[in-house]
Amino acid sequence: MTDTKGEELSALLHENRRFPPPPEFAAAAIAQPGIYEHAAEGRTAFWEEQARRLTWAEPWHTALEWEMPYAKWFVGGKLNVAYNCVDRHVESGLGDRVAYHWEGEPGDTRTITYRDLQEMVCKAANALTELGVEAGTKVAIYMPMIPETVAAMLACARLGAPHTVVFGGFSAEALRDRILDCDARLVITSDGGYRRGSPSALKPAVDDAVASCPNVTKVLVVRRTGQDVAWSEGRDVWWHEVVDRQSEHHEAQMFDAEHPLYIMYTSGTTAKPKGILHTSGGYLTHTSATHRLVFDLNPDKDIFWTAADIGWVTGHSYIVYGPLANATTSVMYEGTPDTPTRDRWWQIVERYKVNILYTAPTTIRTFMKWGEDLPAAHDLSSLRLLGSVGEPINPEAWIWYRTHIGGDRCPIVDTWWQTETGGIMISPLPGITTTKPGAAMKPLPGVTADVVSNDGTSVGNGEGGLLVIKDPWPGMLRGIWGDDQRFKDTYWSRFPGIYFAGDGAKRDDDGDLWLLGRVDDVMNVSGHRISTTEVEHALVGHPSVAEAAVVGASDATTGQAIVAFVTVKSGADNPEGSDQLVIDLREHVAREIGPIAKPRQILLTPELPKTRSGKIMRRLLRDVAEQRELGDVTTLLDATVVNAIRDRMVPGAEEREQG
Ligand code: WT7
Repeated sequence: MTDTKGEELSALLHENRRFPPPPEFAAAAIAQPGIYEHAAEGRTAFWEEQARRLTWAEPWHTALEWEMPYAKWFVGGKLNVAYNCVDRHVESGLGDRVAYHWEGEPGDTRTITYRDLQEMVCKAANALTELGVEAGTKVAIYMPMIPETVAAMLACARLGAPHTVVFGGFSAEALRDRILDCDARLVITSDGGYRRGSPSALKPAVDDAVASCPNVTKVLVVRRTGQDVAWSEGRDVWWHEVVDRQSEHHEAQMFDAEHPLYIMYTSGTTAKPKGILHTSGGYLTHTSATHRLVFDLNPDKDIFWTAADIGWVTGHSYIVYGPLANATTSVMYEGTPDTPTRDRWWQIVERYKVNILYTAPTTIRTFMKWGEDLPAAHDLSSLRLLGSVGEPINPEAWIWYRTHIGGDRCPIVDTWWQTETGGIMISPLPGITTTKPGAAMKPLPGVTADVVSNDGTSVGNGEGGLLVIKDPWPGMLRGIWGDDQRFKDTYWSRFPGIYFAGDGAKRDDDGDLWLLGRVDDVMNVSGHRISTTEVEHALVGHPSVAEAAVVGASDATTGQAIVAFVTVKSGADNPEGSDQLVIDLREHVAREIGPIAKPRQILLTPELPKTRSGKIMRRLLRDVAEQRELGDVTTLLDATVVNAIRDRMVPGAEEREQG
């Protein structure tokens, strides 16, 4: 582990504040203390109990078949994911229950009941069928945060057509790569969505992307903003023209528990994103069970709000699948937290009387910067539980969240998980766990996590190492789409037979877990995973760039920020040191990957520091980027290079932009 991690660690170890669950909360909580022992007596049996909360058309004959690294859960079982999320609730008399209190950024609102959602999903499923979608057809979804996005995902699930939702902040190139990688045949999009007070177009990126995707024959377009769109006759169809006229009846077919549900792309350590594959029965079991236990979800009473984008796994698992399977009433908000004013979230909490709020540390730190007066001006007394996800939460942000949002009364659950794990793996249980600010605490019942040293042996209390998961779990990824070898290499070969998560972790003196961030070349910017290699690849794709090295540097708001060191080709158009080139390069990265991947800083430098064997010394660049004393330079080919770079590093010369 790097030196920074050591420093972070010792700071965390001085954190000795403790927050036991409030007695009234504990008494009424869904998860009661015996649950850990109960799950430990039979892990698979525990997950079977959770799976029985779903409605199966045929029961499974075998709970788990495990041929490392391939797991099959609930083998022989058949179910329909959309039926479980919607129809069965309507059939049991909950048709009038609100599924989503939706709020658009301009202030328009929609109330979608489970009956409304059923109608939307059935019509969309009929429309997709008319457009040629069958079980197994891949569908790409590139949408803003509107109810049709949920309906589109569920319509795919209903038909057994795996979806791949691409975050609307990704570029046309990124969208094209994902469409091609999974061979999606249909794209669902909208003219645009509202962001920061104005319509932000989505359709042009789809037009660009699809121009080089010959297998995409149809593009289904929701009208959201009413902005002008280019139209390709024969290929493009309006949602309101094709979906609205469909029958609201659709017979859901039942699929195997292991039928593919979706592919979600996430960055790895190479330039090519990995298509993480999730299947049906195990995933829905994991997300619904963890949603209920971790958020103490009482569907008859609670208003639940995951403030994330559906384009990321957090949105899949805790805006769509987990909450809907539990018949939850959720809040869904389209826009940014500062539009039109910086108290937009607190208005929403007050208006809908939100009970449970789930968000990322980067957002909490942004609210800290904006000041506690904004939440203080609103009635947030409906809140009873707070959640955090996406990156390690620093104790200061944790305490601020608890004090200024949670009114010192709400337990906080810091939930560790990944796109690959499908659902929450390590987290406090809010009625049981005495929490520590900054710690994810313990693996959930049914999960076996461990911290190991480089040789794979478990570390003792008070020691740090690498986080691994030792037994299969129902929500686990079933592979990387089209790349078995990468699946094995990335997750299963560092410690043969056990899942390597890529995170560093520490087990404290009580045996509780503290997550310390990635140990690979993956950055975590505002809770979004971005590969250093992917950004480097984008940079060297620019005609003026000879070489690029990218590092993640700590950032007070975004957790990590992208800092790029770039050498320019001799004779390139832009002279070295030119501000214009730096601007062009940032734009270039935004175009290639998306605005979220724009480096906070780009340093043009005549050379990059390399070892004698020619490896770029990222550790040193990280020191430079974080303006620290330089580490060991003895293996460096030319020590003057790094000093020269350091001298160019202008503190604070940064411009920030979020996706
Ligand atoms: C990586 C996974 C899980 C949904 C959002 C991100 C980091 C996530 C925590 C947490 C410390 C966390 C890890 C992990 N991470 N949650 N509570 N504490 N780190 O999903 O894009 O797949 O990223 O996010 O580094 O490996 P993702």
